[in-house]
Amino acid sequence: MIIINGEKYQIDVDSNMPLLWFLRDRLEITGTKFGCGAGLCGACTVHVDGVATRACVTPVGALADKKVTTIEGLSVDGDHPLQKAWVENNVPQCGYCQAGQIMNAASFLQQNPTPSSDEIDNAMQGNICRCGTYQRIKKAIADAADELAKEVS
Ligand code: FES
Repeated sequence: MIIINGEKYQIDVDSNMPLLWFLRDRLEITGTKFGCGAGLCGACTVHVDGVATRACVTPVGALADKKVTTIEGLSVDGDHPLQKAWVENNVPQCGYCQAGQIMNAASFLQQNPTPSSDEIDNAMQGNICRCGTYQRIKKAIADAADELAKEVS
């Protein structure tokens, strides 16, 4: 059994199947994208027990009783501070990498809610954007961090 976005599912496939295929092909949860298939580009980033994880190189059989969150489960109405900041900053271009960008950033802000500019750069360096939206991604993460700081103060 695996928990995905709060729902329980049986792992009824070959245990070596990458989580990304299980999400997309078995469950038709398609917000998570295939990029390189080798864990190098970050497009397929999801959370496993809150930690940013590359779904294309993670066998689903290794995730028994784990909690997986995809972009669909990050917030109820697309209103996570990162998602709002993404809209306000018009971050996406083609959009392909953006679910992975947001999921990586969400895990990062959970660990470091008040990041410096360099810390944002370091945290996001594994997520590639072929359109080069890096400056807008960085601005949106900084804005979301400001928003989260207001929420807790
Ligand atoms: Fe096109 Fe990032 S927006 S790859």
